[in-house]
Amino acid sequence: MEKPRVFITRRLVLAPQNVLGAGIQIDVHDSEEAVQRSELLRRVREASALLAVGGDRVDKELLEAAPRLRIVANHAVGYDNVDVPACTARGVWVTNTPDVLTDATADLTWALILALARRVREGERMVRAGEFRGWAPTMLLGRDLRERTLGILGYGRIGRAVARRAEGFGMRVLFNARGGGVPFDELLPQADILSIHCPLTPQTRHLIGPAELLRMKRGSLLVNTARGPIVDEAALVAALESGHLGGAALDVFENEPAVHPGLLGRDDVVLLPHLGSATQQTRESMARIALEQVERVLRGERPTTAVNEVTPP
Ligand code: GLV
Repeated sequence: MEKPRVFITRRLVLAPQNVLGAGIQIDVHDSEEAVQRSELLRRVREASALLAVGGDRVDKELLEAAPRLRIVANHAVGYDNVDVPACTARGVWVTNTPDVLTDATADLTWALILALARRVREGERMVRAGEFRGWAPTMLLGRDLRERTLGILGYGRIGRAVARRAEGFGMRVLFNARGGGVPFDELLPQADILSIHCPLTPQTRHLIGPAELLRMKRGSLLVNTARGPIVDEAALVAALESGHLGGAALDVFENEPAVHPGLLGRDDVVLLPHLGSATQQTRESMARIALEQVERVLRGERPTTAVNEVTPP
């Protein structure tokens, strides 16, 4: 019998053959660049498993091109790139990589909060440009965090980990989540810094739009390490341009990897290329979990990080 095949859409930080058993054929798009859509559709044709990353759209078209598919193992905690109901309808498992990236993402959120509040990017640029001419009491003044309010939108694993770190900085924490906390409308005007940690769903797409930005406190800061489309990027640029918002720090973008041109030239924004989970150890754990899910399903076992429920035929 022919061995089942897995298609892996990116180079991983560990060699897949070190995790997968010999009974699985491995096909890797061995690159940091995204696989072209047409090539993706071609290479899933014989695949029983797909190891995808956030940038790969897994929709009905792809499922139709992959009649043997039994699992989509998403190398991410978020899975908004996957049409989960369509997968379920075809008996395809969908798995993610929760928990292992919680601390890395919370740490990066704080890197952004601090960079924005203390103008790290501007200071760094100044030194490299040879513009640092000595200490001055008035130079590049930032904001204190102590006794300020951190508003956390979405209070799951990552939102909570961000909140735990806030104690060390003496910040007051308010959160809004489906299950509780303060109402969304109250969070916006109270937060000095609003940090987003909810998943992207049809309900959270453009959750932060023009009206919500206007409800935020004048001079407040917005931080997004969740998913770009939760924020209406054009409205964000307008809120920065008008001076209503004091700044923004973004690790994710509405049309990733494209960035709204209105953000690029601004000194009051910090922009990172989706680095939330980007540590060696975290990426090893993510790859290992995703590969283990592939292995389990191809062996006929239940995956351990499924986000859907598939009944055997
Ligand atoms: C990355 O964005 C993830 O969802 O893991």
